[in-house]
Amino acid sequence: MKHTKVIDLLNSTKTLHEVTAKGWVRTFRNNQFIALNDGSTINNIQCVVDFENTPEETLKRITTGAAVKVVGILQESQGKGQNVEIQVSKISILGDSNPEEYPIQPKKHSLEFLRENAHLRVRTNAFGAIMRVRSVLSFAVHNYFQEKGFVYVNTPIITGSDAEGAGEMFKVTALPFDKTPRTEEGTVNYKEDFFGKETNLTVSGQLEAETYAMALGQVYTFGPTFRAENSNTSRHLAEFWMIEPEVAFNDLDANMDLAEDFIQYVIKYVLEKCGDDLAFLEQRLLDEEKSKPQAERSEMSLLQKLNFVLENNFKRVSYTEAIDILRNSAPNKKGKFNYIIKEWGADLQSEHERYLVEKHFKCPVILFDYPANIKAFYMRLNDNTEPGKETVRAMDILFPGIGEIVGGSQREERYDVLVKKMHALGIEEEELWWYLDTRRFGSAVHSGFGLGFERLVLFVTGMTNIRDVIPFPRTPQNAEF
Ligand code: 4AD
Ligand code: MG
Repeated sequence: MKHTKVIDLLNSTKTLHEVTAKGWVRTFRNNQFIALNDGSTINNIQCVVDFENTPEETLKRITTGAAVKVVGILQESQGKGQNVEIQVSKISILGDSNPEEYPIQPKKHSLEFLRENAHLRVRTNAFGAIMRVRSVLSFAVHNYFQEKGFVYVNTPIITGSDAEGAGEMFKVTALPFDKTPRTEEGTVNYKEDFFGKETNLTVSGQLEAETYAMALGQVYTFGPTFRAENSNTSRHLAEFWMIEPEVAFNDLDANMDLAEDFIQYVIKYVLEKCGDDLAFLEQRLLDEEKSKPQAERSEMSLLQKLNFVLENNFKRVSYTEAIDILRNSAPNKKGKFNYIIKEWGADLQSEHERYLVEKHFKCPVILFDYPANIKAFYMRLNDNTEPGKETVRAMDILFPGIGEIVGGSQREERYDVLVKKMHALGIEEEELWWYLDTRRFGSAVHSGFGLGFERLVLFVTGMTNIRDVIPFPRTPQNAEF
């Protein structure tokens, strides 16, 4: 039963020996040439079938999607674009795939159609490439932090804390199916909570990670995160993965340095490890661009964009400077944004963020020092700001084509200031007593950030819809599988 992976066969320098391969048929041409893929690489191996000596019945069963085992001699290929091929001596059909019913045919399917077939779309070249890149990127994340001595912390998924104060949480209820409590009218009583306590699925592991940073120094989380926002955008999921480093004794500048270095490291890592997949995704984009008018085509190819991020520092700009730029700009044909910023203190909309990154600076941007009242309670209040113009040491990283990819801050380490802020926002001390303990015992300057993993995968793969970079997207429309 031993077989060799397609990637190893394609890279092998030794030929003219017998090999066994297993995989799925991508195409079968002229009753003779199978393009076989086993997921180990974007590339298929060509298997040449001796059709004269293969039963008609077997040939009929070599259809797109069928699982097969081939035994044959690995030899140099005369065909274009491949060094080796298998001259098949024996083929066995492991699993048939009825071409009348199999949805993934060898043609270009729309991304919408493929989303409806999330369980099968990974059998296409594009999704195979995206999911391999995603896997390598997540390994790169761990590699980066582990090499730097960070401790990986698994923060809870069911939690009583609402880290962002955004009120966009999925409630957790303990309702066994057979014992579902019902009201007198017979409707389900959803007041029953997690063993008598109100809990929700985590919106961020930050607060818990902070407690660990105040003992282990440098920590990071990397796990699923949930937001019950009913937004149907190409940048939001109800379930996404977030990476959240948290570092004791780092101020905001050190936090920015860490984020920039981290992003550059993981991009460099995939460029080194995923050459074939990225080359495929780049070509896919170039083909797509051909159908667009010249003016709408991107100035850079995918690989150029990735290399650009490696070679250029992120531009660091304060919120106040950004507002000035936005006020003095005329970004669309009518000369205005859909939402015009009139006042210092307004939150930026994604159209503003994208204008700054894509039109004005044309490079990744770190915006910092935001107005205190548009940011979360835990952010460090800047000293010496004018009353009414208080700012916090927040930072958002904005990426071309993506918008916000990172949100983070230096944390408020002063107990009194933090409690005052919580009171002002109506957050009970009892609710976060454990969090406040970090400020009562051995408090210190510390900082961290959260990077939305899928937004990073979007950037690296050049895809444009976040539903296409996670295996089974959870959005208001999509919770099957
Ligand atoms: O800006 P956010 O809400 O920040 C936090 O949660 C902080 N507690 C992080 C921290 O400081 N430790 O989210 C961080 C990032 C965003 O910049 C974005 O990339 C991503 O998480 N994100 C989402 N990604 C996909 N779908 C959603 N609904 C997302 N919401 C946030
Ligand atoms: Mg944010």
